[in-house]
Amino acid sequence: MATNRTFTMIKPDAFGDGKSGAIIKMIEEAGFKIIAAKVTKLTKERAGQFYAVHKERPFYSSLCEYMSSGPIMAIILEKENAVADFRKLIGATNPADAAEGTIRKLYAKSMEANAVHGSDSDENAAIEGNFYFSKTEEF
Ligand code: CDP
Ligand code: MG
Repeated sequence: MATNRTFTMIKPDAFGDGKSGAIIKMIEEAGFKIIAAKVTKLTKERAGQFYAVHKERPFYSSLCEYMSSGPIMAIILEKENAVADFRKLIGATNPADAAEGTIRKLYAKSMEANAVHGSDSDENAAIEGNFYFSKTEEF
């Protein structure tokens, strides 16, 4: 059964370019509620832990360099069908393939610097949220 939470990061390119406000506006207008948010900066080692699932992939080292190259914003989001709906809102990994109007189509610079992260399953949404936040408030 689908849970109602997902996890996102506004990646170093988009955060550094001052696009977090515009991206959060799109996220909120799509019906997501912000449960937790913070600005932080990953070390290369910690980026490697976050993306450990990709450690055998050819892009892993470059991805970890990139993800630790500047501050990011980590956000837990809530909405019915959050994981699938958020993947739809951000668009394909490669911005060249991302649908019109998606966050990646609008803000990604490349396959690597693709503006935002989005969890790919309910299980990973929980793991990734816990990577950044030890506790989330209930309002
Ligand atoms: O982020 P998403 O789930 O769409 O893609 P992924 O396959 O889980 O890959 C994680 C991240 O690695 C992507 O968002 C890109 O930043 C990067 N990547 C890359 O640089 N080159 C690839 N061929 C695939 C992914
Ligand atoms: Mg992924």
